[in-house]
Amino acid sequence: MLTQQENEYLTQVGPGTPGGDLLRRYWHPIALAQDLSDENPTKFVRVLGEDLVLCRDKSGNTGLIAGKCPHRNASMVYGRVEERGISCAYHGWLMDCEGNIIETPPERNDAIMKNVKTTAYPLQIFLSMIWTYMGPTPVPPMTRYDTLFRKDGHRDIRLHPVLDCNWLQAMENSMDPAHLQVLHQEFIGGGRSPVNTTRGYTDDVESFEFYVTEFGLMKKRTYKNGTVDEHPLVFPSILRQGASTQFRTPIDDTHTWHVHINFHPTADGSEPEDAFEPKIEDMGPYKQSPEAMHPQAHFTMHHVIPQDHMAWETQGPLADRSIEHLSYSDRGVVLLRRVLKEQIEKVQRGEDPLGVQRGENPPMINTNIDEDWFAKGFRQAMAEKPAAG
Ligand code: FES
Ligand SMILES: [Fe+2]
Repeated sequence: MLTQQENEYLTQVGPGTPGGDLLRRYWHPIALAQDLSDENPTKFVRVLGEDLVLCRDKSGNTGLIAGKCPHRNASMVYGRVEERGISCAYHGWLMDCEGNIIETPPERNDAIMKNVKTTAYPLQIFLSMIWTYMGPTPVPPMTRYDTLFRKDGHRDIRLHPVLDCNWLQAMENSMDPAHLQVLHQEFIGGGRSPVNTTRGYTDDVESFEFYVTEFGLMKKRTYKNGTVDEHPLVFPSILRQGASTQFRTPIDDTHTWHVHINFHPTADGSEPEDAFEPKIEDMGPYKQSPEAMHPQAHFTMHHVIPQDHMAWETQGPLADRSIEHLSYSDRGVVLLRRVLKEQIEKVQRGEDPLGVQRGENPPMINTNIDEDWFAKGFRQAMAEKPAAG
């Protein structure tokens, strides 16, 4: 259980909040690269509680700038792009992708052009997605996780519906191994029937363990048949589970962008040319009506991720942790909250939090994907049936 104050401390994402300061120390995926095109050169995005506009000018520069024009606040999403940048539709003030104001029609106001800048965040296009870093300088490199940077495999992207809830609800689920055997019981039995719906396949499991790693936290599940699975929570907003690296980018306090990048290593270690050009699949919707909120919404529950969305969203747009009753099996959730608080405090002291790398060419971080039974199973299947893929 947390007090309301502790709950806000861990969950708020906006500028100037402790949690928002922590989240601003990382690169986050915020959109698909294909969302910008010649026909649609601007896109409204809300990230970490800030309203922003993605734009691509006619010179090919991509920018992420403040959603409101610095003149008198009209939306830049209606701006017209040209070679030099994006021009506000209202009076034509022109901004480049770095946020410099380079024209101020109808007059030329040198004082404004010299002294005023609009917000512009660094971005990268990588793995068919647009990523941004919204924190203080110096800007760190994107953390070199193996599932993102390894060359010896294929990737695909699964785009899940936007979660109508706070990001931490999804991340607490990543430290909650007990739910698998109950919430997802329709999909994990392998032809067996569960003893009853209350226990599901709980009795398959011998033990759960949790520990802190160099880049986040680990949950470990040991089954009675000797199988072990370990799925790392990659701090702060990623779960690496099997082949998937699951990003939960906070849009604002009560909405979260949910996208999976799946990495499938080649059986022979070869490096395919399209390793960094994933195909994209849209997985939604997971509820009817897609825009509705609980209790008006009806979740489809037709597979694992829709079931997760049901659990996370029905906890509330921002779960009230002052009314929960934690049990022994929730100790991974407790550990996550403790580590999150410690890392927020580190940022408040001016230190880099867990998982931030520095330097020009930081080492690749091994999230143990080759040891993961799911990925291993995929590799074996690929080796036995190379024609499959
Ligand atoms: S509000 Fe944008 S130019 Fe006036
Ligand atoms: Fe789940």
